[in-house]
This record gives sequence, structure tokens and C-alpha cells, in this order.
Amino acid sequence: MSAAPAPADLLSQIRVNGEVPRHVAIIMDGNGRWARERMLPRPLGHRSGMKSVREVVEGAIEVGLEVLSLFAFSQENWQRPELEVAALMSLLEEYIQREADELDAQGVQVRMLGELDRLTPAARAAVDRVMKQTEHNTKLRLNLFISYGARAEIVRATKALAAEVAAGTRSVDAIDDAAFSEKLFTAGCPDPDLLIRTSGEQRISNFLLWQLAYTELYISSVLWPDFSRRELYGAILDYQDRDRRFGRVSA
Ligand code: IPE
Ligand code: IPE
Ligand code: MG
Repeated sequence: MSAAPAPADLLSQIRVNGEVPRHVAIIMDGNGRWARERMLPRPLGHRSGMKSVREVVEGAIEVGLEVLSLFAFSQENWQRPELEVAALMSLLEEYIQREADELDAQGVQVRMLGELDRLTPAARAAVDRVMKQTEHNTKLRLNLFISYGARAEIVRATKALAAEVAAGTRSVDAIDDAAFSEKLFTAGCPDPDLLIRTSGEQRISNFLLWQLAYTELYISSVLWPDFSRRELYGAILDYQDRDRRFGRVSA
């Protein structure tokens, strides 16, 4: 059996192919199963997943993506056992503590998207700090979705538009796709070109329901803590072979 191609070779192939996605989104799944396979507690799976985050951020910069979106914690995840939720919140703080300067040095603009009011005060403070520290960076926009649910995001956008209509500052006819997009957490971001979900699950789990309308889907069987640049590059190479028709016929 031949050895798996080196990440550098995959990256060269991506460059030879040419056009890269502007925006890649990832549902980072499988930390719990990764831990269970090793008879470890679930939080250790989450901890191990942090290095995969570092890997994909570096990979995204190498490829030249504009936006990388990572689903880190859903609104539904608040229903997990208290200990697991607490472990995830402290990992978030630790991630920011450890990575903020490096992300800043790499030119990454960090944005945290979701119902941030539900975070612990310490986690909320860390989130605000890293967003402020990196707000002027332009190399890569990193969207970290925390306490995020797409249906709630859509309801929130609807209410914002309804309030403008009620106040008389917007006419009903001025509600269109663009106006709606501007009320979402992702305002100003292009829609994802590619969505990767790890751990083999074939569902969206309430992530970016509006924004994924014409996104290419890629399911990887790799569990998130084992996901590295190699898998990211593999997904992008697969994407480069797709024929995106947007409802039209091929050229
Ligand atoms: C993804 O891993 C991380 C979060 C959802 C917070 P999981 O914790 O969902 O791992 P599995 O799906 O149980 O393996
Ligand atoms: C989706 O994973 C949320 C994140 C990766 C943050 P889940 O593990 O929560 O999704 P389900 O429950 O398998 O659909
Ligand atoms: Mg899961």
C-alpha cells in the first residue's frame, strides 16, 4: 500500500488546481467518541480537539481562505451534563488565553458568534478580549460559533426586521435576501462554499441553515481530535472537483 500523500503535496495540488473556496465551515464532531475509544472522560476528547483547531487555522491560512467557521458549541449542547458544559467553557477560556497572541500575530480576526449572554462572566470576558485584540486583522476571519443555533438566529433576524417595519424605518418591500443576511450573526461574510462535518454524522444539527443553501457538503469519517491539515486539504481537493450549478445547467 502506498503511503498517504504528505500535506505539502496536497497543498501544492490545491494550488495547481487553482480556485480555492472563500469560506469553509466545519462541524467539529466526535470528541466524545474519540475519548471513549481510549476509555478517557469526554472532556479529554474536547481538550484533544484543541490541537485540531490550531491545525485547521494554520491550514486555512496556508490555503488562503478568507473565512473559516468552526461550530464549537450549540445551543442544544447546554443540555449536556453540567460537568461537561463546565469543562467546555473552561476550555474556551484556556484556548483564548493560550492562542490569542499567536492568532493575532498570524493576522487572524477572531469573531465569536452566538448567544454570548449565556456564557459565564469569565468566558464572556475572554471572548470580548480576543475579539477586540484581533479586530483589525485581515489575513483570515475565524468565526467561532458558541452557544449558537441557526433557528434562533433566523428568529432573531426576523424580529430585527419586524421591529424596523413597526418603527416605520423599513418598508415590507425592503425585506429581501440581502436585508435578511445582514441581520444574521454572519453579516458581511460570504456564504460557506464548503461544509465539512467530522465523525461521519450526516446531518446539519442546526448549523447555518440559511447560509448553507448552496454549500458543498463533505462528510469525513475522521473524529475531530484526529482531524489535521491533511484532512482539510483532502476536503478542499474534493471540493475543487465539484460542479456547482446553483440550479442552472453546467457550462
Ligand atoms: C463535538 O464532539 C464537540 C461538541 C459538540 C461540543 P462531541 O462531544 O459531540 O462528540 P461525540 O459526538 O459525542 O463523539
Ligand atoms: C453539533 O454536534 C454541534 C457541534 C459540533 C458544536 P452535536 O454532537 O451536538 O450534534 P448531534 O447531537 O450529534 O446532532
Ligand atoms: Mg457529537
